[in-house]
Amino acid sequence: MVDATIGHGGHSDLFGRTLGPKGVIVGLDVDNNAIRRAQLRLKDLACKVILIRSNFSDIVERVHEQGIDEVDFILADLGVCSAQLADVGMGLSLKADMPLDMRIDKRKETTAADIVNRADERFLADLIYKFGQDRASRRIARFIVRQREIEPITRTGQLAAVVSRALSRPGRKRKSRIHPATRTFQALRIAVNEELENLKALLGSAPELLKKTGRIAVISFHSLEDRLVKTDFKCNQEEGLYKIVTKKPIVPARSEITANRRARSAKLRIAERQ
Ligand SMILES: C[S@@+](CC[C@H](N)C(=O)[O-])C[C@H]1O[C@@H](n2cnc3c(N)ncnc32)[C@H](O)[C@@H]1O
Repeated sequence: MVDATIGHGGHSDLFGRTLGPKGVIVGLDVDNNAIRRAQLRLKDLACKVILIRSNFSDIVERVHEQGIDEVDFILADLGVCSAQLADVGMGLSLKADMPLDMRIDKRKETTAADIVNRADERFLADLIYKFGQDRASRRIARFIVRQREIEPITRTGQLAAVVSRALSRPGRKRKSRIHPATRTFQALRIAVNEELENLKALLGSAPELLKKTGRIAVISFHSLEDRLVKTDFKCNQEEGLYKIVTKKPIVPARSEITANRRARSAKLRIAERQ
């Protein structure tokens, strides 16, 4: 199997325990720290574990390089881990103040601060609308541009404060429970990490790698990702390549959400290669 987003190795640990010594897990992640953590966690599994620092958009090359033509299972648990959200070096946090970076793969050049300080107002507004689905995108972009004329926006705390100011209505209480800058942060993270392009590449490669009756399972955390997965599975089903296993996405039970609030937006979709 390929765990395309090895993270802490939590999923691979579970799958690995059911695989005997003939089983192979190829684990990918763009974050070196994730690879190191997973290495420790998975070291006692009976199956073979191959961990590679790579974007899952290159899944076919990485798997073929290992002399493996086809796999039984591809798993992708998209987005970031809680540890990455808390990591000062990642610069992803809305709540803790840290350098505004957002690159999960540090080999990339452009940071969120580069975009926020250099992009023109219209580009910023479009980005926040398209990837953050925030209807107040123009106002947010205007506030960002005004603020960066005073001083560059280099920290997550500064950005969160500017967006909060843009969205505050004096005398009115906020209806939403999420932080006002959540959507803007989501938009920048998607742009910096090219998340949708990478997901499209992964979905496009999967039919080539999966054995007949092999399965792909994708856990997504926002509607832009989920729509891509849903459409891809549907198109492949129409072409006779897949049979959709989950007519509706599997979502967490209320008890799971209570135990882990970050699971609240998770959607799992599975398809089987025909
Ligand atoms: C939600 S975590 C996965 C957690 C994992 N399933 C576990 O059980 O510990 C997502 C992981 O995917 C990685 N990631 C995000 N985009 C990636 C990409 N395009 N290619 C490879 N890894 C990626 C992140 O660095 C992060 O470690």
